[in-house]
Amino acid sequence: MHTYVYRLNVLLTEAITLLALMCAIASLSDKLNVASPSADIQVLHINWFHKQRNGNDEVSLTMNVSADLKSTFTWNTKQVFVFLAAEYETEKNYLNQISLWDAIIPSKEQAKFSYHTINKYRFTDQGNSLRGKKYNLTLHWHVMPKTGKMFSDRIVTTGHSLPEEYI
Ligand SMILES: *[C@@H]1O[C@H](CO)[C@@H](O)[C@H](O)[C@H]1NC(C)=O
Ligand SMILES: *[C@@H]1O[C@H](CO)[C@@H](O)[C@H](O)[C@H]1NC(C)=O
Repeated sequence: MHTYVYRLNVLLTEAITLLALMCAIASLSDKLNVASPSADIQVLHINWFHKQRNGNDEVSLTMNVSADLKSTFTWNTKQVFVFLAAEYETEKNYLNQISLWDAIIPSKEQAKFSYHTINKYRFTDQGNSLRGKKYNLTLHWHVMPKTGKMFSDRIVTTGHSLPEEYI
């Protein structure tokens, strides 16, 4: 009886140690996975650009949002949330960030995409003129893991600017 319990104990200890080791390796392999995502954001067309009745400027863009986020997917990835933001500076704020489009990427197979889309959310600025405004289009993503912490990253594309005149 005594040896039986002892053996069981040893066996259990070994099993737990092994399990802990496996978890550590798994979590390490997840961290070691070097993501090398790429993105290409193009403004294909400015559909319209005007001043709203309330005085705010608003612009409608047709864009080509392409990215390859396959490398952000590991065995531990549940899904990836992506959003495209227009980012620009004004006198009042160093960083103005407007979300224009977003998507949920449920699998690695769908992580390489090319969306031909107009901005899903309004690109409007409170009070400030957007005329001639230089802005970045930044693709942000949040990797939601099955276990562990969420993490995020982004790719900035620069050199975009709005027309000097309303269209
Ligand atoms: C969108 O961009 C991708 C990658 O740069 C390109 O392969 C594709 O032809 C583009 N589509 C349009 C409609 O411009
Ligand atoms: C736009 O991107 C450039 C290069 O990453 C950066 O220096 C600049 O601060 C960005 N502008 C805004 C408003 O975020």
